[in-house]
Amino acid sequence: MDFAIKIGAPDKLRGACSIVGVFESRKLSEPARIIDDASKGYLSDILRQGDMEGKVGTTLLLHHIPDIPSKRVLLVGLGKEKDFNDKAYRQAVSAAFKALLQTRASDANFFLADVPLKQRDINWKVIQAVILASDAVYRFDRLKSKPEKEPPPLNKITIVVNDPASLSAGEKAINQGTAIAHGMAMAKDLGNLAPNICTPTYLAEQATDMAKAYKLKVSVLGAKDMEKLGMGAFLAVARGSHQPAKLIVLEYRGLPKMENPIVLVGKGVTFDTGGVSLKPAAEMDEMKFDMCGAASVLGTLTAVAEMKLPLNLVGIIPATENMPGGNATKPGDVVTSMSGQTIEILNTDAEGRLILCDALTYAERYKPDVVIDIATLTGACVIALGHVASGLMSNNGQLAQELIEASNTVSDRVWQLPLWDDYQDLLKSNFADMANIGGRWAGTITAACFLSRFTEKYAWAHLDIAGTAWKSGNEKGSTGRPVPLLTQFLISRAKA
Ligand code: BES
Ligand code: MN
Ligand code: ZN
Repeated sequence: MDFAIKIGAPDKLRGACSIVGVFESRKLSEPARIIDDASKGYLSDILRQGDMEGKVGTTLLLHHIPDIPSKRVLLVGLGKEKDFNDKAYRQAVSAAFKALLQTRASDANFFLADVPLKQRDINWKVIQAVILASDAVYRFDRLKSKPEKEPPPLNKITIVVNDPASLSAGEKAINQGTAIAHGMAMAKDLGNLAPNICTPTYLAEQATDMAKAYKLKVSVLGAKDMEKLGMGAFLAVARGSHQPAKLIVLEYRGLPKMENPIVLVGKGVTFDTGGVSLKPAAEMDEMKFDMCGAASVLGTLTAVAEMKLPLNLVGIIPATENMPGGNATKPGDVVTSMSGQTIEILNTDAEGRLILCDALTYAERYKPDVVIDIATLTGACVIALGHVASGLMSNNGQLAQELIEASNTVSDRVWQLPLWDDYQDLLKSNFADMANIGGRWAGTITAACFLSRFTEKYAWAHLDIAGTAWKSGNEKGSTGRPVPLLTQFLISRAKA
């Protein structure tokens, strides 16, 4: 999909479709009013008939409006004008693109970025439009023998604004939005792929391809290398699987000097059966999404490399399956992590923290400025925050604040949970330095407490994306989150 921005008059522009907004109680947005005037009240007539009430997210497609050169006009409900907020904008824009894809229009002029929205500038409105349009056109049919339906012809969206001052900001926003959307699509593809295809080896191949395409440095460590490094926790998870585990490292250099990098560590469990602490059968297929942290790291690196951001970034992905088997780790096994700390594995289904702890120790060698890990880590996080916000925990107040700000800027929500020492006691083990589980309570926090024992040497934040990385049910599929959050965080960092 191509995006462009220009100045234009709604009543003069040619094209396959113009997208304009209507508020509830028949109030036309400015571009809609101009079309209405030019067509001698064609839109007001329709509104008076009651065919379009302006409820947020509703649409009405009109053809050949008199004296309007655009072939189609898509009216989009914006809801009550006084309630028009971020959520309403996103809902309306998303509905508009979905409706547009039902037509044979190959291009569209998008007038919604000019609708005034409290506390949001053109930058936000354009980035959101680009992300939502890309989301609407996203398809994942490569595993079907033939596509379910023909791809829609839509290939170009022009954001039309009134104020010349919006042009340069809009241009920039298109670039950032496009980079984010590409990163999200990549993360979605990896998440959606079947777990017999998206194995640790496949992730390593993808990383290697990315390295070629964007001139990154890539290294892939295998079990032998990890043994030498003493990664006993990671290897304990990998033992039950016939698929070889990989530690994938990608390095992006956007600054000539080796400035201390930001390190992203993504959980790459390509399938989580639970291991010997086997999960129940229902919805177990969704545990193919247990590598969405890794996918978000690859997606974010793609976005950053596309924008050529001036910063240094390292992505570390511990990738493995978590399988039961004769050689698999058993509850009660004690292993030694790369940090030297010993861990009693009381539940083999708490495997994410075991692979992450060694990857986090490995991150030390990059003398990181900050480290962020991203993981579908706990079911408890889904219970706490649902599918709305990712969980955020950090040992550094400023880093947490930066992530919260980035999250607000790009509307990819996070919510901070405490990491107080009071919770650490729950990880006590009678037989090792710590247990890998903390019991029934505060499961998201105790998982982070476990990780915090491996991140004392740097500023660190942990994102639990168990509730946000994918959707279940009819719309089952990867969401591409939190690529927007991570990319925005890095954009802001590069500016500072
Ligand atoms: N990958 C899961 C977390 C998960 C579960 C994400 C359900 C999304 C939906 C993780 O490896 C896991 O199994 N965590 C356990 C930890 C427990 C054994 C302490 C969990 O959350 O049940
Ligand atoms: Mn698990
Ligand atoms: Zn898992």
